Amino acid sequence: QGLAQEMGDTCMEIPERYVRLELDVGVTAICDDDDDDDDEGGSDDKVPIIDMKRLLDPNFSLEESAKLHSACMDWGFFQVVNHGVSDEVIEEIKVDLEEFFKLPLKEKKAFAPLPGGLQGYGHKLVLNEEKLEWQDMMFLITQPPHARNFTFWPTSPPTFRSTLDKYSTEIKSVSRCLFDAIAKNLGLNPEVLCGIFKDHQRMRMNYYPPCPKANQVLGINPHTDAGGLTLLLQVRDVQGLQIKRKGKWLPVEPLDKALVVNIGDALEILTNGKYASVEHRVMVNKKKERLSIAAYHSPSFDHIIGPLPELKQGSCEEYYKTMKYDKYLEFHFIAKVKGKNHMDYMK
Ligand code: SIN
Ligand code: FE2
Repeated sequence: QGLAQEMGDTCMEIPERYVRLELDVGVTAICDDDDDDDDEGGSDDKVPIIDMKRLLDPNFSLEESAKLHSACMDWGFFQVVNHGVSDEVIEEIKVDLEEFFKLPLKEKKAFAPLPGGLQGYGHKLVLNEEKLEWQDMMFLITQPPHARNFTFWPTSPPTFRSTLDKYSTEIKSVSRCLFDAIAKNLGLNPEVLCGIFKDHQRMRMNYYPPCPKANQVLGINPHTDAGGLTLLLQVRDVQGLQIKRKGKWLPVEPLDKALVVNIGDALEILTNGKYASVEHRVMVNKKKERLSIAAYHSPSFDHIIGPLPELKQGSCEEYYKTMKYDKYLEFHFIAKVKGKNHMDYMK
């Protein structure tokens, strides 16, 4: 953020470690092996929209659950509307986060991570020659409440902590509802997924400054999310998130108040590949800043993750290894810079 401001003031060049000269900026094909538009019941260039009110209404739930199932099978991404998180809570978290990122760097740095720590405000730590991402962020453990470390929770604006507490609780119940509906769609006892994903929620709050050479930098490198479900709020109407679909980078349009949901690797493993995680990345805007809040719902570190016995497909073959979630995370973070390659270790 400081660098972007300095650049705006002085017309300086972007430091080389951010520049990616051969970036495919998206929308155009990178390996156009499938040109067909399979338009069965929906547009193939828009992430499906799931209406949670319909999902919970006995009159419509069958139809909406079927939509959810196909979104999970075919896309790995969908947007949720009518999710039940109140407009006030959504607006409060947006405003408080914008206020926080507007603070002078010195004030924000009071919430910087400790050496080797993950929680707090800053720029992602990169140890090797890897390119840098055009963003600042704040990473916090938000659930369960007793796991929170308030040393890293901003005190300015003064409402920040209570707003985040409310938002986190409401997002958690949306995630429960989704895990429940997903379990039903998979023919599982609803308790199974809610049990595995019952406790842990982490949030990454992202700030992407504008960049005069927006087509030469990335806000976030291509990656998949590690856990079960990620629920993302795009703070204002600025596009940036792109998903890899049929070899192309497809933008996810910001939809007012909607939550963008995606399947993480742990859910892919548990479902024996039936619902797969999808690579995504973030492009930045030339003129406008962009903010977003991702809420990750993951198993506990010592939970053993492997294909659920109920879901081994016809042949009963297991496509993934079974291991403790923290062991899996080692693979995830080692190979993450290469998109989805880390999942090869799991097979
Ligand atoms: C992500 O966390 O992967 C995407 C965040 C965003 O859209 O800003
Ligand atoms: Fe992500």
